[in-house]
Amino acid sequence: MEHKAKAVAVLLAATCVFSIIALILTVVNVKDVFLPPSTKYGLVFDAGSTHTSLYIYQWSADKENGTGIVSQVEACAVPGPGISSYADNPALAGASLKPCLDKAMMIVPAKLQRETPTYLGATAGMRLLREQNSTKADQVFAEVAKAIRQYPVDFRGAQILTGNEEGSFGWITVNYLLETLIKFSFAEKWERPQATEVLGALDLGGASTQITFQPGGTIEDKNTSVLFRLYGTNYSLYTHSYLCYGQTQALKRLLAALREGSSSPLRILHPCYPKGYQENTTTAALYDSPCVPTPSTPSTAEALTVTGTGDPVACRAAIQKLFNFTCGAHRTCGFNGIYQPPVRGQFFAFSGFYYTFNFLNLTGQQSLGYVNSTIWAFCNNTWKELVENFPQDKERLHMYCSTAVYILTLLLEGYKFDEHTWSSIHFSRRAANTDIGWTLGFMLNLTNMIPTEALVYVKGQQPGLWASAIFFIVLTTVVGLVAIFLQCFWKSK
Ligand SMILES: *[C@@H]1O[C@H](CO)[C@@H](O)[C@H](O)[C@H]1NC(C)=O
Ligand SMILES: *[C@@H]1O[C@H](CO)[C@@H](O)[C@H](O)[C@H]1NC(C)=O
Ligand SMILES: *[C@@H]1O[C@H](CO)[C@@H](O)[C@H](O)[C@H]1NC(C)=O
Ligand SMILES: *[C@@H]1O[C@H](CO)[C@@H](O)[C@H](O)[C@H]1NC(C)=O
Ligand SMILES: *[C@@H]1O[C@H](CO)[C@@H](O)[C@H](O)[C@H]1NC(C)=O
Repeated sequence: MEHKAKAVAVLLAATCVFSIIALILTVVNVKDVFLPPSTKYGLVFDAGSTHTSLYIYQWSADKENGTGIVSQVEACAVPGPGISSYADNPALAGASLKPCLDKAMMIVPAKLQRETPTYLGATAGMRLLREQNSTKADQVFAEVAKAIRQYPVDFRGAQILTGNEEGSFGWITVNYLLETLIKFSFAEKWERPQATEVLGALDLGGASTQITFQPGGTIEDKNTSVLFRLYGTNYSLYTHSYLCYGQTQALKRLLAALREGSSSPLRILHPCYPKGYQENTTTAALYDSPCVPTPSTPSTAEALTVTGTGDPVACRAAIQKLFNFTCGAHRTCGFNGIYQPPVRGQFFAFSGFYYTFNFLNLTGQQSLGYVNSTIWAFCNNTWKELVENFPQDKERLHMYCSTAVYILTLLLEGYKFDEHTWSSIHFSRRAANTDIGWTLGFMLNLTNMIPTEALVYVKGQQPGLWASAIFFIVLTTVVGLVAIFLQCFWKSK
C-alpha cells in the first residue's frame, strides 16, 4: 500500500517536471534559446560612371527592423573602369565583376548564399549610355546579369537608378547610419530622437551630383519632391540630381570650353592645371560624352596638347561659366534654373566631395576662409613642387586644384551655402564603419528593412527570454533531483 503511494508520488513528480520543460519549450521558441541569432547578408554592386564597387553587408536576422543594425563587411573595388565603358565590348563588363563575386563567396557562408539578396544599381554613367544608345545599355545589362547569375545568390536584378532615387537612397543611408530616424532609447524602446534633426546628403559622383535635404517650407516644384513614411514619421524631402555635373564630366566640359575659347584649337592652356604640367589627349576622347557639347567647328580625330598655367583666378572664372546661376521663373534656385529651397540643417558630403577635401586635409570642419586660402595656395604650386611633395599621388595630382575649385563653386554658388551654413557641412566617407553612399539605402528599401510604421517590439526581449528559460530549466532540474532523492530516501527507510 505504502509502496504504491510512493510510486504514484514519483510518477506525479516526473510528469510535473516533464510538463514544465515541455511548457517552457513551447513558450520560448527553441531556436531562440539554443541557436545564436542568425546572420543575414546582402550584396549591392554600385556601378558608377568611372568604377564599380561591390558592397557586402551583414545584419542579425532578429533585429532587422531597427536602425544602425546593418553593417558593412567589405567593399570590393572592381578592377577597371565603369560598366558603361564596356559599351563596345559588353562581355568584358560581366567578366570584370567576377573577382569581387569570388571574394563575396569567400565571405558569405555557403549555406547562406542562396538566400543572400544581390542587386546591381547603375547611376549616371549608364543613364548617359542609355541616352546615347539604349541597345548598348541593354547589352551591358544583359552581360552583367549573366555574370551574376553564375553565382549561387538570390539575384534580384540590375537596374538604372533615377537621379531622385540616387539622392533619396543616399539620404536614407546617412540618416540610418547616424540613427536620426529612430534610436533605441533609455526607455528600452525604439523612439524618434526628439531634439535631433534629420541630416541632408551631398553626393558628388563622376557623372552627376545630388543634393537631398528636408527644407523648412513647402516644396514648390513637384519634380524635386520625395515623400517617405519611415518608422511612423512622414518626411517631405527636396532632392535633385544634376546630370553632367559629376566631377569627371564637369572637368571634361571645362576642357571643351577652354578649347572653344582658345586661339589655337589643338593647344589648350588650362588655368586649373599646375604650371609645368602637360598632357596629350584627342578630340575623340574629349567629345565622346553627351555631356560635352559638340564643337562649333567640327573636327576629325586630332591630337590635343593641354598645358597647365596654374592660375587660380582664371580657373575659378572658367569653372563658373559651366553653370547658369540665373534663377528664371523660380524665387530660389540651385543652378541652371532648377528650383531649390534654401539649404537647411546639417549635411553630410561624401564620395567625390570627401576624396578631394581629404587629400587637401580639409575635412576637419575648417572655416570657409581657411578652406579658400588652402585651395588657393595649393593651386599655385608648380607641377615640379607637387611631384616632389606628393610622389605617391602622381596619377591624380594634376586634377586636385580643378576638383577643389569645382567643389567650392558647386557648394557656394550652385547649392547656395554661405559662410554661415558652411560649418554645417561634414565631409565624411564613412559612418558606423560603413561607407556612405546610396547602396545601403537602396538595399534597405528593396528588402523592406525599414518599416513604414513605428516599431513596437522591445530590443531587450531576447536576453529576457534567455534568462527566464535558464531559470526554469534550473528550477525543474532541482525539482527532479529532489523527487529522486526523496524516493531513494523513502526506499532505504
Ligand atoms: C519587421 O517588420 C515587419 C513588418 O513591419 C514584420 O512583419 C516583421 O516581423 C518584423 N521583423 C522583426 C524581426 O521584428
Ligand atoms: C547602337 O548600338 C548598336 C549595337 O552596338 C548598333 O547596332 C546601333 O547602330 C547603334 N545605334 C546608334 C543610333 O548609334
Ligand atoms: C540661364 O537660365 C535662365 C533661366 O533658366 C535662362 O533664361 C537663360 O537663357 C540662361 N542663360 C544661358 C546663357 O543659358
Ligand atoms: C595633409 O596632412 C599630412 C599629414 O600632416 C601631410 O603629410 C600632407 O602633406 C597634407 N596634405 C596637403 C595637401 O597639404
Ligand atoms: C522603396 O520601395 C517601395 C516598394 O517596396 C517603393 O514603393 C518606394 O517608392 C521605394 N522608395 C524609394 C525611395 O524608392
